[in-house]
Amino acid sequence: MSLWTVHGGNRLCGTVKVQGSKNAVLPILAASLLTKGETVLENCPALLDVDASLDILRHLGCRTAREGDTVTIDSAALSDNRIPHELMGKMRSSVTYMGAILARTGEVRLSRPGGCELGSRPIDLHLKALRALGAEVDETGGEVYCRAETLHGAYINLDFPSVGATENIMLAACAAEGTTTVTNAAREPEICSLQDFLNAAGAKIHGAGTSTVVVEGFTPRGGVRHRVMSDRIAAATLTCACAAAGGEVELRDVRPEQMETVLSALREMGCGIVTGADCVHIRRQGALKAGRPIITKPYPGFPTDAQALLMAACLKAEGTSVFVENIFESRYRHVDELRRLGADIRTEGRVAMVYGVPALYGAHVTAGDLRGGAAMVIAGLSAEGETAIHDAGHILRGYAGLNTDLQSLGGSVILTE
Ligand code: UD1
Repeated sequence: MSLWTVHGGNRLCGTVKVQGSKNAVLPILAASLLTKGETVLENCPALLDVDASLDILRHLGCRTAREGDTVTIDSAALSDNRIPHELMGKMRSSVTYMGAILARTGEVRLSRPGGCELGSRPIDLHLKALRALGAEVDETGGEVYCRAETLHGAYINLDFPSVGATENIMLAACAAEGTTTVTNAAREPEICSLQDFLNAAGAKIHGAGTSTVVVEGFTPRGGVRHRVMSDRIAAATLTCACAAAGGEVELRDVRPEQMETVLSALREMGCGIVTGADCVHIRRQGALKAGRPIITKPYPGFPTDAQALLMAACLKAEGTSVFVENIFESRYRHVDELRRLGADIRTEGRVAMVYGVPALYGAHVTAGDLRGGAAMVIAGLSAEGETAIHDAGHILRGYAGLNTDLQSLGGSVILTE
């Protein structure tokens, strides 16, 4: 039962290094199975989701070790191709093990990742794509079983540019004979990072970052060393925290072009932002004002993962801020909690209207999901008095030291586990 206690009112000032990316490292941990040897991941963030993924790798027979930010996986001794429910249930993104294990062993059995705090989250696109690659897919009793004597390259057009489905196809297609072409593929930077990793491991993949990804083959090469890219959502969290609390913050080890939509929304709200090749400097002095509507879309559109974060920064902005959530069906669970702090937010379906209030007041809230929990921290920084965020374990799924980062900037954020 982790509790975060935030005392609002302090401006944030200073410099922080942004952590390695959760959404980039998770599919790469699954992809390490394809190397049949050693993978060394640098800049690997210490997250509960990474621990959950390492638990899966060990269950499958791999050896893993962590030394600081460096994680080593040896997948040579893989001895199982089933993932039990207790391990699958810890995080939704373990679904990429489906493509990776199928590619490595020709067979995989895992429990179906259930719905989660963001809604039902089906995997129909993943399964349809694996069938197109020649896998037999059987779904019974909450389990998914996939088998293929041989996988063959295919032309796959995704009905929606799903990040996880694109990653699963890339992984499975590495073991296919012939070429696989994915159209309407997700274009997120994390897809490029998976392509880089797989190519270093012996794959021939190109097109990541565009809507068409082509996988032409794979010859495993052990001994892959890869540096995990910077986390654009963790960076968005810190910029939104500075916007909410006021102050001047420099983020290091960040790729500004990957968070352009978030930065331009903050600029419109009145923040001063200067970017360099791998840094972002944000300054907020005066009052914030509502900007243009924020409409979540697949990359390069505004990320759904930053919707709650920006909303938390908008609560006191003059005027009305409008949000439209297009990616997930239930991604406004943070709204009720933000209202407890005095926020004036009305939702109808996919739309949320935030009417700026002059002040917020600390309260007891709960963190229903990872980004919703981080949104409570951001709102708490701009509230008067103490905000206690209960059941905040979700935050540690995706943030490595958000509390210490904010403390180093002068924020009063205390984590009690
Ligand atoms: C990934 C990210 C998550 C982010 C999301 C959207 C990881 C570990 N997680 O999740 O942080 O919020 O992208 O940017 O990288 N869908 C289907 N059928 C499918 C697959 C998806 O209908 O088979 C729907 C989902 O329900 C959702 C939408 O497509 O409404 C987007 O999902 P997807 O891009 O697959 O997200 P994830 O890969 O799960």
